[in-house]
Amino acid sequence: MSTPAALAAFRNEPILELRRAPVRESLAEALRELDARLPLEVPAWVGGDRLRPGEGGFASTDPGAPGRVVADAARATEADAAAAVEAAERGFRDWSARPAAERAEVLRRAAQILRERRLELAALQLRECAKPWPEADGDVCEAIDFLEYYAAEAVALDEGRALVQVPGERNSMRYAPRGVAAVIAPWNFPLAIPCGMAAAALAAGNAAVLKPAEQSPGSAGALVEALHEAGVPRDALSLLPGYGEVGAALVRDPRVHVIAFTGSSAVGLEIVRASAETPDGQGHVKRVVAEMGGKNCVIVDGDADLDEVVPEVVHSAFGYAGQKCSAAARVLVHEAAADTLLERLAGAVSVLDVGQADRFATEVPPVIEREAQERVERYAAMGEPLARSERPLPGEGWFCAPTLLADLPDDSPVLSDEIFGPVLAVTRVRDVDEACDVIDALPFALTGGLFSRTPATVERAAARLPLGNLYVNRGITGAMVGRQPFGGNRRSGIGSKAGGPDYLLQFVEPRVVTENTMRHGIPVE
Ligand SMILES: NC(=O)c1ccc[n+]([C@@H]2O[C@H](COP(=O)([O-])OP(=O)(O)OC[C@H]3O[C@@H](n4cnc5c(N)ncnc54)[C@H](O)[C@@H]3O)[C@@H](O)[C@H]2O)c1
Repeated sequence: MSTPAALAAFRNEPILELRRAPVRESLAEALRELDARLPLEVPAWVGGDRLRPGEGGFASTDPGAPGRVVADAARATEADAAAAVEAAERGFRDWSARPAAERAEVLRRAAQILRERRLELAALQLRECAKPWPEADGDVCEAIDFLEYYAAEAVALDEGRALVQVPGERNSMRYAPRGVAAVIAPWNFPLAIPCGMAAAALAAGNAAVLKPAEQSPGSAGALVEALHEAGVPRDALSLLPGYGEVGAALVRDPRVHVIAFTGSSAVGLEIVRASAETPDGQGHVKRVVAEMGGKNCVIVDGDADLDEVVPEVVHSAFGYAGQKCSAAARVLVHEAAADTLLERLAGAVSVLDVGQADRFATEVPPVIEREAQERVERYAAMGEPLARSERPLPGEGWFCAPTLLADLPDDSPVLSDEIFGPVLAVTRVRDVDEACDVIDALPFALTGGLFSRTPATVERAAARLPLGNLYVNRGITGAMVGRQPFGGNRRSGIGSKAGGPDYLLQFVEPRVVTENTMRHGIPVE
């Protein structure tokens, strides 16, 4: 299949070559400079009004050293949410009236600003979310990709779609922005995910109100700063650092047209319910884009190459402490390969390098907060561990020992709940078909993997599995914008994939105009 012209020029932002000592040193220097500036001050932006943290604000802290405050943020209230939506209604009029190409140019400028600040932004994620260097750098690259990709897509979309034409009639189909978009983001991709959702809304001509996660206001502040500096009018983009109630207020607001949410399934489903209300005076039905949680399984067939399987599964399960929505949570292994795989996985898990995110060798950093640590430990204690990492955990920080569990009873919550931490559970299956049955019975359908050397098996499983993203003979994390459009099905999501060709359609409404072009006579003045 060929690439549409608008995308022909799109290239994923190259990641840093961390194997080179000078590159590592430049990151370490960026971290030293950032540390000297902490804590950052993150205001709320309500249109053009800058609300400083002051009393009643809240802080984000370093998960590896909870005493270190990374950002002091203003805590937006429900009244601020209402004022931000009012500003967005004003901002929408100006922003939506600009040509798509002009809006795209603004987003490209924002991408360039992020590019110029990439070391500092990676360092900020490292401190605020304990995101290790390779992942933090990847997050910045993904944010840049979203801006560039949606900018190109929006220009292409603005052309409209070709329709059948017959003599005497002219048909056209164009796309119009919906209005005010509420963007509600999680903390685990603190720059890329809020950036992607906000960029899509803005590229398509909407005004956006961003409510970032309470754990990562600093990264969101940097994003909004870049977008404003690039030329997004302040009324067209507000920032509301705060807690869930601010997100809920945006969802309820009858002036909001689109809600772009990424986060847990519990909150996503609550948003889907709340946004279905259409109170008197609300002249539209809200559109919800909800990207939610998962329980991602990797199937290992009897003929799989275990030299390939072990490092890919370990990295997918334990990288960033298992806190990617795409992370591997379960392995379903063919009984013929099970004993060998378990032995090798146990060995690999026991030597995982758990440590502070700023060490380049760290494979497993701390989890985001105390509550997450307690949750992970609760689940890890539900079985007899086959292996736990043997290195001593650092004395401070929300660390959890990576844990491998096996042969749990079918009704164990470890096998069905999203744990969102470094716990991997292995189950033996008769064959790949049984593994597909197991996955099919789960309510989640986000990512998954299959290791097999039999093409017919790969084809059968790919046709059968309900997953949003299936990865074959490779790790299951690290989707790239434009190459692996990303998002789940079933209870994992009701959006069409981020970083893919359908994504912007959720932020616009199609309008068809049919004109009778037969002669109407000459109007007489
Ligand atoms: N499918 C995907 O693409 C994807 C990507 C990243 C993360 N995730 C999921 O996100 C989760 C981790 O992120 P999290 O802990 O920040 O998720 P979360 O659901 O706790 O929070 C997400 C956002 O929703 C806000 N919020 C909380 N309650 C709300 C309410 N009642 N109404 C409106 N907004 C509300 C939060 O303040 C935050 O900004 C995991 O479940 C993970 O799988 C999914």
